[in-house]
Amino acid sequence: PYLSSLLPFSREPPTMNPVVEPLSWMLGTWLSDPPGAGTFPTLQPFQYLEEVCISHVGQPVLNFSFNAFHPDTRKPMHRECGFIRLKPDTNKVAFVSAQNTGIVEVEEGEVNGQELCITSHSIARISFAKEPHVEQITRKFRLNSEGKLEQTVSMATTTQPMTQHLHITYKRV
Ligand code: HEM
Repeated sequence: PYLSSLLPFSREPPTMNPVVEPLSWMLGTWLSDPPGAGTFPTLQPFQYLEEVCISHVGQPVLNFSFNAFHPDTRKPMHRECGFIRLKPDTNKVAFVSAQNTGIVEVEEGEVNGQELCITSHSIARISFAKEPHVEQITRKFRLNSEGKLEQTVSMATTTQPMTQHLHITYKRV
């Protein structure tokens, strides 16, 4: 009944498409360790937990989901999912994400070794999205020397220039 049961890896793991090999260091299930740190000039500093799943099905594209939770109540918070594409035979990366806040964004950038830096090229939002609106987003992902994944997100809004909003380190689980 489930189409995913038709995928060959329901029997054996998919062979990684060589196009996505430069991003293979991102693959896996990751959990914040320690909790993430949220900041912004207009916000009280906050902490959050986050589960990340980055996978592939043998296509030249990665699938991702980032699901954040309140550190005390475990209530779901920010959620996003999408795809990461590589331009074949280059280090050019495109990141496409749909978020529970009602925005959809495309970021582009480059992977260099175990570091991925991307910047928004377009952001669309639902007509009744909460204000202030985000106008620009940049992210950096890297695998640190301890084998942990790190994500740093900065953003500009209609009221604030580009400033860091998130920093988080994840351990592989
Ligand atoms: C607030 C954008 C990811 C937690 C905000 C605001 C914006 C924003 C525009 C309003 C800032 C202001 O009032 O001046 C984004 C974008 C994200 C993102 C574009 C991803 C690319 C996250 C994540 C968390 C988070 C992963 C983790 C829980 C919060 C909290 C606030 C906030 C707690 C303040 C309360 C609220 O407005 O809900 N974010 N955010 N954000 N963000 Fe994020």
